[in-house]
Amino acid sequence: MSDDIVLSARGLVKRFGGITATQNVDLDVRRGARHALIGPNGAGKTTLINLLTGVLPPTEGRIVLEGEDITNLAPHRRVRRGMVRTFQINQLFNPLTPLETLALVVSQHKGLGGGFWKPLGTSKEVARRCEQLLAQFHLTEVMNQRTEHLAYGKRRLLEIAIALACEPRVLLLDEPVAGVPAGEREELLQTVAALPADVSVLLIEHDMDLVFSFADRMTVLVNGAVLTEGTPDEIANNPEVKAVYLGHGEEVAAGPPQGASAASGGSAAGVPANSGTNIHG
Ligand SMILES: Nc1ncnc2c1ncn2[C@@H]1O[C@H](COP(=O)(O)OP(=O)(O)OP(=O)(O)O)[C@@H](O)[C@H]1O
Ligand SMILES: [Mg+2]
Repeated sequence: MSDDIVLSARGLVKRFGGITATQNVDLDVRRGARHALIGPNGAGKTTLINLLTGVLPPTEGRIVLEGEDITNLAPHRRVRRGMVRTFQINQLFNPLTPLETLALVVSQHKGLGGGFWKPLGTSKEVARRCEQLLAQFHLTEVMNQRTEHLAYGKRRLLEIAIALACEPRVLLLDEPVAGVPAGEREELLQTVAALPADVSVLLIEHDMDLVFSFADRMTVLVNGAVLTEGTPDEIANNPEVKAVYLGHGEEVAAGPPQGASAASGGSAAGVPANSGTNIHG
């Protein structure tokens, strides 16, 4: 496998009884990629992420992370090896502030977990890392508010900050801006896109305007199988992709606007800009 590829899947199959949710999927995530996984409802996007992260065992196929076969590795051991997905914020974290939450995760990740309730007092290194993460994710001004009182957009930012605190090499995000107010989605994804180049990102997102402003690589899943894979330009101009998203017989204007292969705010795959296009359903 090329050094250029951080995460790859070969021949992945997942069957749930009679349903084949994943059909012989090959996927390569390149180092530093901003890779989007798109496809209609029920296409198998979440299932694929569940296979990659080890939440579900594949029926067939293999998964390679940084050149090592991880197909049978437990989920937490994949995290240790640098593959992290966003966590759902759960009740446990609600009484904590973003600063306390991050301090816990950072100190546990750094193996400094001893002072569970006072991690900040134990290490300047932890405090410094927390400060960085809070600033990077626009959480500094709310760092001392209990998480349950945070605006939803801030909670999603905190989820991603928590994932980053685990120092991922590959970050897997399943619809991270779902439920975030429209005005905050783009900023949130741009914050993810601006992560250091040594963090590769695989993102599931339905809003095509957001996808095309984020991604430098795209894979289209349909009925559990890869329909096609390519640059945003290639995807936007692919007739099969247009057919899947727009239905047959519909005349489609060009792909993204001229010279705006991955620029924000434009049309993509023939979808009008500012439509808030959501391919759900
Ligand atoms: N645990 C499960 N048991 C049985 N069937 C499942 C299970 N998980 C997923 N499926 C089925 O697998 C198919 C793919 O589902 P999946 O959730 O991966 O799609 P998705 O692309 O993430 O869809 P969405 O865009 O709606 O999130 C669907 O037909 C779904 O009903
Ligand atoms: Mg899904």
